[in-house]
Amino acid sequence: MSSHGDPIPMIARKSAGLKGEAHVPGDKSISHRSLILGAMAVGETRVTGLLEGQDVLDTAKAMRAFGAEVEKRGDTWHVHGVGVGGFAEPGNVIDCGNSGTGVRLIMGAMATTPITATFTGDASLNSRPMARVTDPLGLFGARAYGRKGGRLPMTIVGAEAAIPVRYATPVPSAQVKSAVLLAGLNAPGGTVVIEREATRDHSERMLTGFGATVTTEETSEGRVITLVGQPELKPQTIIVPRDPSSAAFPVCAALITEGSDVLVPNIGLNPTRAGLFFTLQDMGADLTFENMREEGGEPVADLRAKFSPDLKGIEVPAERAASMIDEYPVLSVVAAFASGKTHMPGVKELRVKESDRIDAMATGLRASGVEVDEGEDWWTVHGRGFGDVKGGATVQSHLDHRIAMSFLVLGLATEQPVRVDDGGPIATSFPIFEALMTGLGADLIREA
Ligand code: S3P
Repeated sequence: MSSHGDPIPMIARKSAGLKGEAHVPGDKSISHRSLILGAMAVGETRVTGLLEGQDVLDTAKAMRAFGAEVEKRGDTWHVHGVGVGGFAEPGNVIDCGNSGTGVRLIMGAMATTPITATFTGDASLNSRPMARVTDPLGLFGARAYGRKGGRLPMTIVGAEAAIPVRYATPVPSAQVKSAVLLAGLNAPGGTVVIEREATRDHSERMLTGFGATVTTEETSEGRVITLVGQPELKPQTIIVPRDPSSAAFPVCAALITEGSDVLVPNIGLNPTRAGLFFTLQDMGADLTFENMREEGGEPVADLRAKFSPDLKGIEVPAERAASMIDEYPVLSVVAAFASGKTHMPGVKELRVKESDRIDAMATGLRASGVEVDEGEDWWTVHGRGFGDVKGGATVQSHLDHRIAMSFLVLGLATEQPVRVDDGGPIATSFPIFEALMTGLGADLIREA
C-alpha cells in the first residue's frame, strides 16, 4: 500500500509508440539538500524547481519542526534558516515517511547540536539499516537509541560538545557521506570523510555553494573529502535541475516501446549520477544527448530516446554501480528486451533500498516470463529480445516507488498487461509519473 493511503493498483498495457516531450520533476537528492542546507543557513534561501514529492515534503516538514520557516509562495520555496547549530528541539516525533535520504541527512544535520529528536517512518523505512549513519555520528559524541538492528523509530541525542571526525565509509553511500559532512558543520576543526568509490557529490557541491570550505582529493585510499567546521552558511538562490533518476523511466519506456521518439529536456549529467545512460548506449540504445551545456556548474543535456529493437545484453561495470544505483530496477526491464545476458555485479546495496530491489525485480520479472539469476551482490537478466516478453503478472511494489514504476514500464511492451499491486509509492519521488507517461501515449490506468 502507499505510505499515506489505500493501495492504488495500476495496470500497464502494450502501447503504441511514445511520442513527445517529458518534463520530469526536480532532482530528489538536490531537493532534500536545498531544504536542509537552507535551514542551516542564516537568512532566506529561495528554491525553484523543488521536487514536490512526499519524500521532500516530509523533509520540509521536518525542517519546520527544527525551527526553520519553510513555505511556498508562487513557484518558489522560501527557507528561512536558523544557522549552523541553531536547530530547536522538535516538539514531536519526526516522521520521514518513506525517505532514507531525508532521515539519514537530517539525523546528521542535528547530531552535533545539543538537542534530542526521535525519528520514524513507514514500514519500509523502519526496516532499513540506520547503524551505517549512527556509527559515525557516535564518533562526534551523539548517542542513538533505536530498535534492534539499528532500526527506526530511533532517538538521537545530539552531542553537547562535538568533536570532528575522520571516517572511512564502509559502504558506498552518499547518504552516509552526507550525514557525516552535515554533522561536521557544527563540529570545530576539519571533518574528513573517505570513500573508496565515488558516490553522488551533491552535498559537496552545495555546501561549497553555501560558503562552506570543502575540498576533495583523489588518493590511493579513495576520495578524501574535508569540511572545515562551523562556517556561517550564506543563503542561496537554487534552481533544482531535473532528476536523471526520474528521466530514466520515460527514456527506458521509449527504448522498448515500438515506434517511440521521446525528448526528455534539461537533464543533469553529473558523472556521479549518469551511469544508466552510458550503460544504455553500451547496450546499443538509440539514446542521444542533444544540446549539451553547463548549468550551475553541472553538465546538462536534452535526452532523446527512440525505440531500439536491437539491444544487446552486456556486463555492467561494477565500478559504475554507484553512479546508477537507483536505476538498476528499470535497467533490468530494458535488459529483458535485449538479446543475451545482462550481468550486474557489485550491487549489494540494492538489497537495502526502499525494498530488496534485486528480490523484488527478480520475482516480478520471473513471473513475467524472464529468467533471472541472483547472488548476494549480483544479478543476471536473461534477455528475451524484443517482442518476446510475456508479462501477464501481478507484481508487488513493496512500498517502493522505483519497483512500481519499473514494472509499469515493463507492461508497456509485454504481450500481456502487467499489474502493479500499489502505485501509491510513486508519489514519493515522481508524483506526475502517470500523467506524464499517459501524455506520451502510454496505456497506463488505475484499476477500477
Ligand atoms: C541518495 C543516495 C543513494 C540513493 C538515494 C539518494 C542521496 O542512497 O539510492 O536514492 O540523495 O544521497 P545511498 O546513500 O544509500 O546509496
